[in-house]
Amino acid sequence: MAAVTWSRARCWCPSLLQVFRLPVAKLYLGRPTMRASQQDFENAMNQVKLLKKDPGNEVKLRLYALYKQATEGPCNMPKPGVFDFVNKAKWDAWNALGSLPKETARQNYVDLVSSLSSSSEASSQGKRGADEKAQESKGILVTSEDGITKITFNRPTKKNAITFQMYQDIILALKNASTDNTVIAVFTGTGDYYCSGNDLTNFTSATGGIEEAASKGAVVLREFVNSFIDFPKPLVAVVNGPAVGISVTLLGLFDAVYASDRATFHTPFSHLGQSPEACSSYTFPKMMGSAKAAEMLLFGKKLTAREAWAQGLVTEVFPESTFETEVWTRLKTYAKLPPNAMRISKELIRKNEKEKLHAVNAEECTTLQAQWLSEECINAIMSFVSRKPKL
Ligand code: COA
Repeated sequence: MAAVTWSRARCWCPSLLQVFRLPVAKLYLGRPTMRASQQDFENAMNQVKLLKKDPGNEVKLRLYALYKQATEGPCNMPKPGVFDFVNKAKWDAWNALGSLPKETARQNYVDLVSSLSSSSEASSQGKRGADEKAQESKGILVTSEDGITKITFNRPTKKNAITFQMYQDIILALKNASTDNTVIAVFTGTGDYYCSGNDLTNFTSATGGIEEAASKGAVVLREFVNSFIDFPKPLVAVVNGPAVGISVTLLGLFDAVYASDRATFHTPFSHLGQSPEACSSYTFPKMMGSAKAAEMLLFGKKLTAREAWAQGLVTEVFPESTFETEVWTRLKTYAKLPPNAMRISKELIRKNEKEKLHAVNAEECTTLQAQWLSEECINAIMSFVSRKPKL
């Protein structure tokens, strides 16, 4: 099958999440009365490369489809296989243009680029400073102040879902925090969510295919969880809002979990054809008893902050209105306690469990690697990424 390439369309390669959420019907831009010249078309192609802002995958697909239609006419390529996510999305986008004439596609391409260029310019005149923008582009923020290393999940537009890069960055941040002069490490989230768990496009956007993604995922996950098991200083979660998946299971490895009463705790593994990670198959039954753990880990029951507190997953719940002030005041006080004493005490509390936790982590990762390739999991992820966009 001939490969459809992005480069010719002057587009960025999309993540599959967006590709699947694309309303294909919207790709047909039926309009023009004017006709763009070949020169206009070429200018537009150059303009695309200069856009300051990523226009999003839906638009990139639209550009791709119009480019193909304008240069090659209606799509007559064989339809890619169902698991060939990217090429299938591109094929769908192009095919949806039907018999749109080449000249109309060319005009629509030029119009679309022109509208993108003006909105990109307008947004670059916005008030946000360069620093703020740079920070926003980072999946996590790490700061050290008042004896506290603060690690913030920082993808609020994606509910702080954790990308492969964020896993690596967190491993590094914990490594640094374990030897620097800060006293405790604290995790929290930017925006309304604490974290929506693993970024589900991690499985579908890997270049080498799904087996490679699963294998890489298992290695990264194991190292990631190990860095929590082995972290030598007090580790605290400041759960500012809903938490999903691995951001919940990891809490069993924290020393204290403070939650806003707005927070919820959800581990929908069965719904996703997956299995528990971050040692929760061991820590949760130990903490809350096997019946309650099963409700969360098997049946995906979502707990409120107070329910999570009653199950021992949360240390204390605070009203949303005073959450940040109360918790950070308390943490600053804790960070003034003698660091060595806290480190030694943590070692005593945790050391008999460490070997067990490493073994559990290894087994969970092996199980997940196989599970990620299962039909149940692939179907569940496809169903998430192909959800209809909200109107
Ligand atoms: N992976 C990838 N993208 C995610 C994500 C995740 N885990 N969680 C949220 N997002 C993205 C959404 O796709 C959406 O992206 P878009 O704006 O480009 O379309 C954006 O974040 C906002 O999420 P949305 O679903 O529109 O918000 P919501 O308030 O309706 O729902 C959630 C929020 C978290 C309940 C919902 O996004 C969800 O169920 N996410 C999956 C959570 C999950 O299963 N995690 C893994 C557990 S193992």
